[in-house]
Amino acid sequence: MSKFAELKLGKQTYKLPIITGTEGEKAIDITNLRAESGLITFDPGFGNTGSCTSKITYIDGNKGILRYRGIPVDELAEKSTFVETAHLLIHNKLPSKCQLNSFSQLLTKHSLMHEDMRHFFDGFPRGSHPMYILSTMINALSAFYPNVDAESLKGDIDETAARLISIVRTFAAFAYKKSIGEPIVYPRHDLSYCANFLNMMFDSPVKPYEIDPEIVKALDRLLIIHADHEQNCSTSAVRVIGSAQVNIYSTISAGINALSGPLHGGANQAVISMLEGIVKRGGNVDKVIEKAKDKKNPFRLMGFGHRIYKTVDPRAKIIKQSCHDILEKLNINDPLLDVAMELEEKATNDEYFLSRNLYPNVDFYSGIIYRAIGIPSNMMTVMFALGRLPGWISQWKEMISTKGAKIARPRQIYKGRALTKYQAPQDC
Ligand code: CMC
Repeated sequence: MSKFAELKLGKQTYKLPIITGTEGEKAIDITNLRAESGLITFDPGFGNTGSCTSKITYIDGNKGILRYRGIPVDELAEKSTFVETAHLLIHNKLPSKCQLNSFSQLLTKHSLMHEDMRHFFDGFPRGSHPMYILSTMINALSAFYPNVDAESLKGDIDETAARLISIVRTFAAFAYKKSIGEPIVYPRHDLSYCANFLNMMFDSPVKPYEIDPEIVKALDRLLIIHADHEQNCSTSAVRVIGSAQVNIYSTISAGINALSGPLHGGANQAVISMLEGIVKRGGNVDKVIEKAKDKKNPFRLMGFGHRIYKTVDPRAKIIKQSCHDILEKLNINDPLLDVAMELEEKATNDEYFLSRNLYPNVDFYSGIIYRAIGIPSNMMTVMFALGRLPGWISQWKEMISTKGAKIARPRQIYKGRALTKYQAPQDC
């Protein structure tokens, strides 16, 4: 294949370099197009736009492939831990036992929040969504632990990355305890990442929490699956905001806000509301499918469809299996799982969904596992954020280390009024 694409505009021909990725995927490099031709490209929603080159995550949306640093996500879900996968994403390699040990120690060291931050939890109204609390608390870290911009960190982000990954778990559990009016539980030095989180969530002075290794493993697996997903909406938010040299805490806080939307990470909570609604109204799945197909109705089948995957999301496959395993292990018969399976079966055999390549995504089954573990639905997107932290950090790190990185600043085509004179307000 030629190394250039040619663009003809009238009598002029522009040669545009073609970039090729590791797996043969190709892009036309238009970096100099405007300078040479005066034209920009137009791509609302960025469906055809590559915003960077990256060495972190590879996705083939047609074949349903997802790899972190070259390793298939299903292999990591089976054999790795969340902490090890976080190290892989951030440092570009699986850690040795010593490296894993020191990373785990760093996580323990930074699991406590500054005690003054505890009072912040009192300021939120009862019933506040934990995603708003989480993004606020992460942003507030900038005031308590300053000098975390790219220039001050000079590429050494170990302590800051550990603080972020660790403290987000403490914030999440504190927000939950606060919402149910129970005393907060502090992190423990002797527990693994996920065991510690579960203990902070569910231990109470009157009912000690018994840590079940199978629940710990199920949670570990969920977090691994969510750990990165290349240039999705929240990661792009992180890269765009970070490109203005905003400090890492404020940048990640913006990523959390982007994730909260129902078309993105907020979909896991929305799936549970949708399934609960179906069960409540007698389990009529067909009605919901018809509603999702009705173009006059803005309703969408939540947990279905994906910008990149045109086949089943590989994460959804792993989560579905995990969902069956954990429900069986805990001896739970959740009617939501039956409804979800019926919905999947009917939608994936329906012409509307087939012709548009709409299949279950990562959010379709994850909420059913969270319910089984005891995590309430308004905490489900927070769980997604916990998992995505290493991805956001590694993408930020890659972005700030890119030579000649520029502030992200898309252009537009102006379609408003032409030059208009100012008129002072008229009498009413
Ligand atoms: N239910 C019904 N119709 C759908 C759905 C759905 N869930 N998703 C897409 N469509 C239709 C859409 O109406 C359009 O139809 P038409 O061609 O007739 O106009 C066609 O499929 C293409 O949709 P699109 O909106 O152009 O696709 P997109 O790539 O811009 O959107 C999406 C991707 C994930 C936002 C969308 O599929 C969606 O809204 N899904 C439901 C929300 C959801 O589950 N989000 C989680 C995404 S995965 C995890 C994450 O990213 O956080």
